[in-house]
Amino acid sequence: MRNPKAILITGASSGIGAALAREYAGPGVTLFLGGRNAERLAAVARACTAQGARAETAAVDVVDSAAIAAWIAGADSRAPLDLVIANAGVSAGTGTAGEPLGQAQRIMAINVDGVINTVHPALERFAGRPGSGVKGQIAIMSSLASFRGFAGAPAYCASKAAIRNYGEGLRNAYARAGIGVSVICPGFVRSGMTARNEFAMPFLMEAEDAARIIRRGLARNRGRIAFPWQMYAAAWLVQALPPWTTDRFMRGLPAKASDDRS
Ligand SMILES: NC(=O)c1ccc[n+]([C@@H]2O[C@H](COP(=O)([O-])OP(=O)(O)OC[C@H]3O[C@@H](n4cnc5c(N)ncnc54)[C@H](OP(=O)(O)O)[C@@H]3O)[C@@H](O)[C@H]2O)c1
Repeated sequence: MRNPKAILITGASSGIGAALAREYAGPGVTLFLGGRNAERLAAVARACTAQGARAETAAVDVVDSAAIAAWIAGADSRAPLDLVIANAGVSAGTGTAGEPLGQAQRIMAINVDGVINTVHPALERFAGRPGSGVKGQIAIMSSLASFRGFAGAPAYCASKAAIRNYGEGLRNAYARAGIGVSVICPGFVRSGMTARNEFAMPFLMEAEDAARIIRRGLARNRGRIAFPWQMYAAAWLVQALPPWTTDRFMRGLPAKASDDRS
């Protein structure tokens, strides 16, 4: 959709989600912004309102499928949604001691189940709309880390690979029903998530620049919005080559810190 008028974004309280909210904010646009931190969400909503948008916030955890479904249904009945962006996600890695079980489970619950919890109710609402035109659009926030499992963040890479494949499947399953599905695969973007990284992040970009690229890709209904191209080319290459040719290189890459909670 070129100019979506009602947009719901999960993980809108910071980073890329907040930048997307500000990117779409403008007169005639209604934004439904979700996240767990009500204070940060309110600040994003204020910025969007200052740009002329109408913004509603909801402190909802994407792991809570009933709460997310109720939020999406309520939003859609107040302003029929054009675009739902399943952006919320967390990342953590092995650090020096390996990945704790609880952390791996948490990453999967938020990054995989959380996306499914968001996408399903949106698909249901869109599919139930009468007529044969464009019924709605869904964007799923994967990552360039989805193309190969990194030793330093196995669960994170796996979670992003799962939702990339999920989105790619949905795209072709729902194309004839008039529902667009796009998968977004950013490289390194400056946010709370990358602020914790102590290693060099090639081609690190600002969240505002990422939001502009994502908006452009969604307006063209691109199936895969992957950027920056240099990192995409590298990710594509390590995925395409036989593992034995790249294993040594992959083992030498730095690990992301663990979140140390389990
Ligand atoms: N930054 C990068 O380099 C990069 C690259 C590729 C992909 N991504 C993906 O982009 C997405 C956004 O990340 P970011 O970089 O913008 O990081 P961020 O600033 O840490 O934002 C993450 C967002 O997800 C929300 N969130 C986390 N757990 C949640 C939960 N259980 N329920 C609801 N909301 C939750 C957070 O809100 P609350 O804390 O308020 O809940 C926050 O708004 C993630 O899916 C990430 O994997 C990021």
